[in-house]
Amino acid sequence: MRITIRDIQKMKAAGELIPMLTAYDATSAYLGEQAGVPMLLVGDSMGMVIQGHQSTIPVTLEHMIYHSQIVVRSTEKAMVIGDMPFMSYKVSTEQAMQNGARLMQEAGVGAIKMEGGEFIAPTIEHMVRAGIPVMAHIGLTPQSVNQFGGFRVQGKDKDTAEQLICDAQAVQDAGAFAVVLELVPTELAEEITNKLKIPTIGIGAGPHCSGQVQVFHDLLGLFPSFGPRHSKKYADAGQVMKDALTQYVSEVKAAQFPTAENSSKMSQEIIDEIHRLWR
Ligand code: KIV
Repeated sequence: MRITIRDIQKMKAAGELIPMLTAYDATSAYLGEQAGVPMLLVGDSMGMVIQGHQSTIPVTLEHMIYHSQIVVRSTEKAMVIGDMPFMSYKVSTEQAMQNGARLMQEAGVGAIKMEGGEFIAPTIEHMVRAGIPVMAHIGLTPQSVNQFGGFRVQGKDKDTAEQLICDAQAVQDAGAFAVVLELVPTELAEEITNKLKIPTIGIGAGPHCSGQVQVFHDLLGLFPSFGPRHSKKYADAGQVMKDALTQYVSEVKAAQFPTAENSSKMSQEIIDEIHRLWR
Protein backbone atom coordinates (compact mmCIF):
# COMPACT_ATOMS: atom_id res chain seq x y z
CA MET A 1 0.00 0.00 0.00
CA ARG A 2 1.39 3.38 -0.99
CA ILE A 3 1.72 6.34 1.34
CA THR A 4 -1.30 8.62 1.02
CA ILE A 5 -2.07 12.23 1.88
CA ARG A 6 -3.62 10.97 5.13
CA ASP A 7 -0.26 9.46 6.17
CA ILE A 8 1.42 12.80 5.40
CA GLN A 9 -1.14 14.66 7.46
CA LYS A 10 -0.63 12.17 10.32
CA MET A 11 3.13 12.82 10.20
CA LYS A 12 2.47 16.55 10.55
CA ALA A 13 0.04 15.96 13.45
CA ALA A 14 2.62 13.77 15.22
CA GLY A 15 5.30 16.44 14.76
CA GLU A 16 7.30 14.10 12.53
CA LEU A 17 9.42 16.01 10.01
CA ILE A 18 8.68 15.06 6.39
CA PRO A 19 11.46 14.47 3.82
CA MET A 20 10.60 14.85 0.13
CA LEU A 21 12.92 14.35 -2.85
CA THR A 22 12.64 14.80 -6.58
CA ALA A 23 12.85 11.74 -8.85
CA TYR A 24 12.69 11.60 -12.63
CA ASP A 25 13.72 8.10 -13.68
CA ALA A 26 14.04 4.52 -12.44
CA THR A 27 17.40 5.13 -10.74
CA SER A 28 16.44 8.22 -8.75
CA ALA A 29 13.06 6.69 -7.85
CA TYR A 30 14.64 3.41 -6.67
CA LEU A 31 17.35 5.16 -4.63
CA GLY A 32 14.88 7.63 -3.08
CA GLU A 33 12.48 4.90 -2.05
CA GLN A 34 15.29 2.68 -0.70
CA ALA A 35 16.42 5.63 1.44
CA GLY A 36 12.92 5.82 2.98
CA VAL A 37 11.66 9.01 1.32
CA PRO A 38 7.86 9.03 1.76
CA MET A 39 7.08 11.58 -0.99
CA LEU A 40 8.80 11.56 -4.39
CA LEU A 41 8.15 14.60 -6.55
CA VAL A 42 8.47 14.27 -10.30
CA GLY A 43 9.37 17.94 -10.44
CA ASP A 44 9.49 20.08 -13.54
CA SER A 45 13.03 20.88 -12.34
CA MET A 46 13.53 17.99 -14.76
CA GLY A 47 13.66 20.71 -17.43
CA MET A 48 16.95 21.88 -15.93
CA VAL A 49 18.63 18.78 -14.46
CA ILE A 50 17.55 16.21 -17.07
CA GLN A 51 16.73 18.17 -20.22
CA GLY A 52 19.47 20.81 -19.88
CA HIS A 53 17.28 23.91 -20.16
CA GLN A 54 17.91 27.15 -18.26
CA SER A 55 14.43 27.09 -16.68
CA THR A 56 11.43 24.79 -16.14
CA ILE A 57 9.34 26.56 -18.77
CA PRO A 58 10.01 24.23 -21.76
CA VAL A 59 8.68 21.17 -19.88
CA THR A 60 5.40 19.85 -21.32
CA LEU A 61 2.57 17.74 -19.89
CA GLU A 62 3.67 14.85 -22.14
CA HIS A 63 7.17 14.98 -20.57
CA MET A 64 5.65 14.98 -17.09
CA ILE A 65 3.40 12.02 -17.86
CA TYR A 66 6.28 10.01 -19.36
CA HIS A 67 8.63 10.59 -16.39
CA SER A 68 5.88 10.15 -13.79
CA GLN A 69 5.01 6.77 -15.33
CA ILE A 70 8.63 5.69 -14.88
CA VAL A 71 8.78 6.84 -11.24
CA VAL A 72 5.45 5.16 -10.39
CA ARG A 73 6.57 1.95 -12.12
CA SER A 74 9.86 1.95 -10.19
CA THR A 75 8.40 2.36 -6.69
CA GLU A 76 5.99 0.51 -4.42
CA LYS A 77 5.55 2.54 -1.26
CA ALA A 78 6.34 6.20 -1.84
CA MET A 79 3.61 8.67 -2.72
CA VAL A 80 4.47 9.98 -6.18
CA ILE A 81 3.52 13.59 -6.89
CA GLY A 82 3.44 14.87 -10.47
CA ASP A 83 4.24 18.51 -11.17
CA MET A 84 1.84 20.38 -13.44
CA PRO A 85 4.10 22.11 -15.99
CA PHE A 86 4.04 25.72 -17.21
CA MET A 87 0.67 26.85 -18.59
CA SER A 88 -0.98 23.44 -18.15
CA TYR A 89 -3.37 24.67 -15.40
CA LYS A 90 -3.65 28.46 -15.45
CA VAL A 91 -5.66 28.92 -18.66
CA SER A 92 -8.92 27.72 -17.08
CA THR A 93 -10.21 25.45 -14.34
CA GLU A 94 -11.37 22.97 -17.02
CA GLN A 95 -7.86 22.84 -18.49
CA ALA A 96 -6.36 22.21 -15.03
CA MET A 97 -8.89 19.47 -14.22
CA GLN A 98 -8.31 17.69 -17.54
CA ASN A 99 -4.52 17.83 -17.28
CA GLY A 100 -4.51 16.85 -13.59
CA ALA A 101 -6.74 13.89 -14.47
CA ARG A 102 -4.29 12.84 -17.23
CA LEU A 103 -1.38 12.80 -14.75
CA MET A 104 -3.41 10.62 -12.38
CA GLN A 105 -4.92 8.28 -14.99
CA GLU A 106 -2.02 7.91 -17.44
CA ALA A 107 0.90 8.09 -14.99
CA GLY A 108 -0.73 6.83 -11.78
CA VAL A 109 0.52 9.62 -9.50
CA GLY A 110 -1.08 9.96 -6.07
CA ALA A 111 -1.24 13.76 -6.18
CA ILE A 112 -0.27 16.72 -8.34
CA LYS A 113 1.59 19.95 -7.53
CA MET A 114 0.71 23.40 -8.84
CA GLU A 115 2.48 26.74 -8.44
CA GLY A 116 0.46 29.70 -7.20
CA GLY A 117 -1.44 31.10 -4.21
CA GLU A 118 -4.69 33.07 -3.98
CA PHE A 119 -4.97 33.29 -7.76
CA ILE A 120 -4.98 29.52 -8.18
CA ALA A 121 -7.08 28.71 -5.08
CA PRO A 122 -10.43 28.38 -6.93
CA THR A 123 -8.82 25.87 -9.29
CA ILE A 124 -7.39 23.91 -6.34
CA GLU A 125 -10.86 23.78 -4.79
CA HIS A 126 -12.42 22.32 -7.96
CA MET A 127 -9.66 19.76 -8.36
CA VAL A 128 -9.79 18.61 -4.74
CA ARG A 129 -13.59 18.27 -4.93
CA ALA A 130 -13.14 16.17 -8.06
CA GLY A 131 -10.76 13.81 -6.22
CA ILE A 132 -7.38 15.17 -7.31
CA PRO A 133 -5.12 15.71 -4.26
CA VAL A 134 -3.19 18.96 -4.68
CA MET A 135 0.11 20.12 -3.21
CA ALA A 136 0.43 23.90 -3.61
CA HIS A 137 3.70 25.76 -4.20
CA ILE A 138 4.28 29.40 -3.22
CA GLY A 139 7.22 31.79 -2.71
CA LEU A 140 9.69 31.54 -5.58
CA THR A 141 7.60 29.71 -8.15
CA PRO A 142 10.14 28.81 -10.88
CA GLN A 143 7.59 28.87 -13.72
CA SER A 144 7.31 32.65 -13.07
CA VAL A 145 11.09 33.21 -13.13
CA ASN A 146 10.74 35.72 -15.96
CA GLN A 147 8.15 37.66 -13.97
CA PHE A 148 10.39 37.65 -10.86
CA GLY A 149 13.48 38.61 -12.88
CA GLY A 150 15.54 35.68 -11.57
CA PHE A 151 15.61 32.99 -8.89
CA ARG A 152 15.37 35.33 -5.85
CA VAL A 153 14.17 35.05 -2.25
CA GLN A 154 10.50 36.13 -2.01
CA GLY A 155 8.59 37.83 0.82
CA LYS A 156 11.41 39.95 2.21
CA ASP A 157 9.33 43.14 2.60
CA LYS A 158 6.08 43.70 4.49
CA ASP A 159 3.75 43.70 1.46
CA THR A 160 5.15 40.60 -0.21
CA ALA A 161 5.37 38.79 3.16
CA GLU A 162 1.68 39.58 3.82
CA GLN A 163 0.78 38.38 0.33
CA LEU A 164 2.57 35.08 0.95
CA ILE A 165 0.68 34.60 4.24
CA CYS A 166 -2.61 35.22 2.34
CA ASP A 167 -1.51 32.80 -0.39
CA ALA A 168 -0.72 30.08 2.16
CA GLN A 169 -4.06 30.54 3.89
CA ALA A 170 -5.92 30.56 0.55
CA VAL A 171 -4.43 27.28 -0.70
CA GLN A 172 -5.14 25.61 2.65
CA ASP A 173 -8.74 26.87 2.59
CA ALA A 174 -9.08 25.58 -0.98
CA GLY A 175 -8.17 22.07 0.20
CA ALA A 176 -4.48 21.65 -0.68
CA PHE A 177 -3.03 18.84 1.48
CA ALA A 178 0.40 20.51 1.75
CA VAL A 179 2.25 23.55 0.46
CA VAL A 180 5.81 23.97 -0.78
CA LEU A 181 7.51 27.17 0.43
CA GLU A 182 10.40 27.96 -1.90
CA LEU A 183 13.07 30.61 -1.20
CA VAL A 184 11.23 32.33 1.64
CA PRO A 185 12.98 33.91 4.67
CA THR A 186 13.23 31.55 7.66
CA GLU A 187 11.08 33.75 9.94
CA LEU A 188 8.28 34.03 7.40
CA ALA A 189 8.32 30.28 6.72
CA GLU A 190 8.07 29.67 10.49
CA GLU A 191 5.15 32.11 10.76
CA ILE A 192 3.29 30.41 7.90
CA THR A 193 4.05 26.92 9.29
CA ASN A 194 2.64 27.90 12.70
CA LYS A 195 -0.45 29.46 11.12
CA LEU A 196 -1.37 26.49 8.88
CA LYS A 197 -2.86 23.10 9.72
CA ILE A 198 -1.46 21.51 6.55
CA PRO A 199 2.26 20.66 6.30
CA THR A 200 4.68 23.18 4.80
CA ILE A 201 7.48 21.63 2.76
CA GLY A 202 10.44 24.00 2.54
CA ILE A 203 13.18 24.47 -0.01
CA GLY A 204 15.43 27.37 0.90
CA ALA A 205 12.89 28.29 3.59
CA GLY A 206 14.83 27.43 6.76
CA PRO A 207 14.50 24.68 9.37
CA HIS A 208 11.03 25.42 10.80
CA CYS A 209 8.89 23.94 8.01
CA SER A 210 7.00 20.66 8.51
CA GLY A 211 9.28 19.00 5.95
CA GLN A 212 11.95 19.68 3.35
CA VAL A 213 12.24 19.00 -0.37
CA GLN A 214 15.46 18.85 -2.34
CA VAL A 215 16.45 18.16 -5.92
CA PHE A 216 18.08 14.71 -6.31
CA HIS A 217 21.00 16.07 -8.38
CA ASP A 218 21.79 18.85 -5.86
CA LEU A 219 21.90 16.51 -2.84
CA LEU A 220 24.24 14.10 -4.58
CA GLY A 221 26.46 16.74 -6.22
CA LEU A 222 25.77 15.36 -9.69
CA PHE A 223 26.81 18.64 -11.29
CA PRO A 224 30.30 19.05 -9.75
CA SER A 225 30.54 22.75 -10.64
CA PHE A 226 27.05 23.77 -9.45
CA GLY A 227 24.95 23.61 -6.30
CA PRO A 228 22.37 26.14 -5.10
CA ARG A 229 23.05 27.76 -1.70
CA HIS A 230 19.90 26.32 -0.15
CA SER A 231 20.95 22.74 -0.78
CA LYS A 232 23.50 20.55 0.98
CA LYS A 233 25.77 18.24 -1.00
CA TYR A 234 25.49 14.95 0.94
CA ALA A 235 27.83 13.22 -1.50
CA ASP A 236 30.22 14.19 -4.25
CA ALA A 237 28.73 11.57 -6.54
CA GLY A 238 29.28 13.70 -9.67
CA GLN A 239 33.04 13.81 -9.06
CA VAL A 240 33.14 10.09 -8.22
CA MET A 241 31.27 9.33 -11.47
CA LYS A 242 33.45 11.67 -13.53
CA ASP A 243 36.65 10.07 -12.15
CA ALA A 244 35.28 6.58 -12.87
CA LEU A 245 34.37 7.51 -16.46
CA THR A 246 37.77 9.12 -17.04
CA GLN A 247 39.43 5.91 -15.84
CA TYR A 248 37.20 3.88 -18.18
CA VAL A 249 38.24 6.03 -21.16
CA SER A 250 41.93 5.69 -20.37
CA GLU A 251 41.69 1.91 -19.77
CA VAL A 252 39.95 1.34 -23.11
CA LYS A 253 42.57 3.44 -24.86
CA ALA A 254 45.39 1.54 -23.12
CA ALA A 255 43.77 -1.88 -23.88
CA GLN A 256 43.42 -2.52 -20.12
CA PHE A 257 39.65 -3.06 -20.34
CA PRO A 258 38.04 -5.53 -20.82
CA THR A 259 40.14 -8.28 -19.23
CA ALA A 260 39.46 -12.03 -19.14
CA GLU A 261 37.29 -11.39 -16.08
CA ASN A 262 34.89 -9.24 -18.12
CA SER A 263 34.75 -11.65 -21.06
CA SER A 264 33.37 -15.11 -21.83
CA LYS A 265 34.99 -18.12 -23.51
CA MET A 266 33.76 -20.70 -26.02
CA SER A 267 34.81 -24.34 -26.52
CA GLN A 268 37.85 -25.20 -28.67
CA GLU A 269 35.65 -27.58 -30.68
CA ILE A 270 33.38 -24.72 -31.86
CA ILE A 271 36.36 -22.47 -32.54
CA ASP A 272 37.90 -25.19 -34.74
CA GLU A 273 34.57 -25.58 -36.57
CA ILE A 274 34.37 -21.85 -37.24
CA HIS A 275 37.93 -21.78 -38.50
CA ARG A 276 37.13 -24.66 -40.91
CA LEU A 277 34.01 -22.84 -42.19
CA TRP A 278 35.70 -19.47 -42.75
CA ARG A 279 38.97 -20.66 -44.19
O1 KIV B 1 10.28 21.06 -9.77
C1 KIV B 1 10.73 20.86 -8.64
O2 KIV B 1 11.67 20.09 -8.43
C2 KIV B 1 10.11 21.58 -7.53
C3 KIV B 1 10.73 21.46 -6.18
C4 KIV B 1 12.08 21.99 -6.11
C5 KIV B 1 9.84 22.00 -5.12
O3 KIV B 1 9.14 22.22 -7.73
